[in-house]
Amino acid sequence: MQRIVVTRRLPGDAHERIRGSADVRVWPDDRPIPRDVLEQQVADADGLLCMLTDRIDAPLLERAPSLQVVSTMAVGTDNIDVDACTERGIRVGNTPDVLNGATADMAIALLLAAARRIPEGMTYVREGRWRRWEPELLLGAEVHGSTLGIVGMGRIGTEIARRGLGFGMRVLYHNRHRRPEIEAQLGTLYRSLDELLAESDHVVLSCPLTEETYHLIDAQALDRMQPTATLINIARGPIVDPRALEHALRTGQIFAAALDVTEPEPIPADDPLLALPNCLIVPHLGSATLQTRKAMADLAVDNLLAGLRGEPMPACVNCHLIGR
Ligand code: GLV
Ligand code: GLV
Repeated sequence: MQRIVVTRRLPGDAHERIRGSADVRVWPDDRPIPRDVLEQQVADADGLLCMLTDRIDAPLLERAPSLQVVSTMAVGTDNIDVDACTERGIRVGNTPDVLNGATADMAIALLLAAARRIPEGMTYVREGRWRRWEPELLLGAEVHGSTLGIVGMGRIGTEIARRGLGFGMRVLYHNRHRRPEIEAQLGTLYRSLDELLAESDHVVLSCPLTEETYHLIDAQALDRMQPTATLINIARGPIVDPRALEHALRTGQIFAAALDVTEPEPIPADDPLLALPNCLIVPHLGSATLQTRKAMADLAVDNLLAGLRGEPMPACVNCHLIGR
């Protein structure tokens, strides 16, 4: 019987589906599986269903000689050494597409909340400071009709663009490769990163974390943005240099930021970013709806089971390189 390790309890009937066909070990705790436990458990595993909080690197793979499939319940694979998996013939599955809508919704929710100062307004009311209506109370930045800049025009970026168009926004994008088909379909305009930062009222990051995008938004990049601009990160924390962001928010170099992801993650409660009224942070909730998390768990299980049966996986990031 094949052995499967699952690093977290999953939504829906995922466990029942896996259990039928294999010997399954599920990490039962609310915190991520400790590294040493994961190392022990993968020793005889054929399949691994992991989370974005698990680091799947070459030293771990060294300890997993029978591993055939790594299936992550996420679209991002920056926590996985995909090259090391490919070298060992290990197929890596992820969960694209099913989370596009939910994650794009979150980007817009954060954009609206930061631009219209919703968390600040709530704090104001809760603290009993709301005494009267005032013509200049908590004035924010306009969203409709403004210019939206999307860094990373993949599947999620495209969904964010659609939503921006619904708000009557002019949509600029930057991407490693230009996307003429999306330009033709949606009327989005390609810009270099510097141009996009300078022209946009709202900048949304929806690119993967790679060596090229690590601290892509640093002091220089923030300096190019407008003092009225907002920055929204729904991608991965390390794309933004947090100390440079803190400085830019503190000095009014940009208007506000909203982060669904941080560096480090989780962000410590005493991080100075949390003390800034113009910085909104939520705990990596981009795909966190009942429907989407269930769809992600289902797809992660589909990938795992197909991979272990030697069948085509519904979503695989390296199968074309392994030739399966
Ligand atoms: C979430 O961040 C994901 O990569 O699915
Ligand atoms: C706002 O509530 C207004 O009536 O202008």
